[in-house]
Amino acid sequence: MSPREMYQQRRTTPAEAMRHVRDGDFIVVPTGVGEPPTLLTALSEQRMDFRDVKVGQILALRKYGYIDQATVDHVRHVAYFFGGATREGGQAGWVDFIPNYFSEIPDQIERGLMPADVVFSMASPMDDQGFFALSLGADYTMAAVAKARAVVLEVNPHVPFAYGNCRVHVSKVAALVESEEPVLEVGLPKIGVVQEAIGKYVADMIDDGSTLQIGYGGIPDAVVMQLAHKRDLGIHTEMIGDGILSLVESGAVTNRRKNYLPGKMIATFALGSGKLYRYMDRNPALEMHPVNYTNDPALAGMNDNLVAINATLQIDLLGQCGSESLGSAPFSGTGGQSDFVRAANRSKGGKAFIVLPSTAKGDTISRIVPVLSPGTHVTTSKNDVNYVVTEYGVAQLRGKSAKQRARELIGIAHPAFREELAAQAARIKLL
Ligand code: COA
Repeated sequence: MSPREMYQQRRTTPAEAMRHVRDGDFIVVPTGVGEPPTLLTALSEQRMDFRDVKVGQILALRKYGYIDQATVDHVRHVAYFFGGATREGGQAGWVDFIPNYFSEIPDQIERGLMPADVVFSMASPMDDQGFFALSLGADYTMAAVAKARAVVLEVNPHVPFAYGNCRVHVSKVAALVESEEPVLEVGLPKIGVVQEAIGKYVADMIDDGSTLQIGYGGIPDAVVMQLAHKRDLGIHTEMIGDGILSLVESGAVTNRRKNYLPGKMIATFALGSGKLYRYMDRNPALEMHPVNYTNDPALAGMNDNLVAINATLQIDLLGQCGSESLGSAPFSGTGGQSDFVRAANRSKGGKAFIVLPSTAKGDTISRIVPVLSPGTHVTTSKNDVNYVVTEYGVAQLRGKSAKQRARELIGIAHPAFREELAAQAARIKLL
């Protein structure tokens, strides 16, 4: 049978596609804009017909009908990372959570530690050889495709046909539906003066020829905006967004000096504008790969001068970063933070930056604390953390003693909290 005939055979309606889901199944959905709106809407509409179905995803972007406390016995969301659509449910306990390093999710799926019975994913149109590109989120979805009983695709002409290991052959697909609505666009976060000041400290420490990983949140984007004048930057990252595209357009990114995959940018998921998605289409300068490849600390660390920029919510005086919860209330997830901190530590000349405003809630709370709030989920450990940056400067921690770390971190805390931090550090015998 030709690829075109296979395509026609599998083409169906969203409601019919739901027949591939069975009670007790675990459905894997890609990161962010790789989530298929037509399929997830159909699942939401039919959710009362199912029992004990779970949907697992990093960063759900839209609050579909199935993300509903009243119907969790039918279909429940399981977050690998919380975002706006799932945070409230996570904090109330009816959205479940699987802690993970992003880089290790594919391996846990392959080993059967994380379930993957069905895949629902956005996909590009099929090429003449019968391949679709899962370019918006190759992440753990490629591992789930290999493992799943049923792969169900939402084929959309706005999904780029990107290069890299993000292709699925039509023979592997159980059903497909077609949709035409533009891929969801996600704008850059608002950047204030504090974020800009932190961005400047980091940008000043990035040398021409460095390879970058840009994390998630306002400050990583503030750094990017201050790199337009740099030369010969490379990209080896988890998320490709409009910030990176702006560096390509300014001529700052050439990928010429990368030691690993020179001449190419690599990423595992995309989050940005229609312009970004169009840029990704059949562009030999970019490859989209599974996350066990992009985020493997050993592979990423093969690039000299790898710079990783990631945000945290709170840090203690030893340097333990609580980047993903506020006390015991989950806020986001580990994502690729620890992967890239370790990658930058391995890289010759590499620099791992953890960035945070010194305070929260109108300067009433110091985000640098003697001990983390009870219940905080530690994201980057004291053994991995290196450069920490606030609007008051840069603390370098790796190789430093506990006392030196406490002094360095108090030095970049908001001045109004420094005295109290020093007194508390003395009380817990850190100073
Ligand atoms: N106490 C109380 N509230 C706090 C706080 C603290 N210590 N730290 C932050 N907050 C509040 C902020 O005031 C803000 O609230 P607001 O929206 O009402 O102003 C909110 O928490 C978010 O803080 P902010 O600093 O604006 O976070 P951000 O938008 O820059 O995002 C995360 C940071 C959550 C994305 C980041 O910490 C994270 O998830 N890191 C782990 C994952 C990661 O790094 N992945 C990288 C690879 S993609």
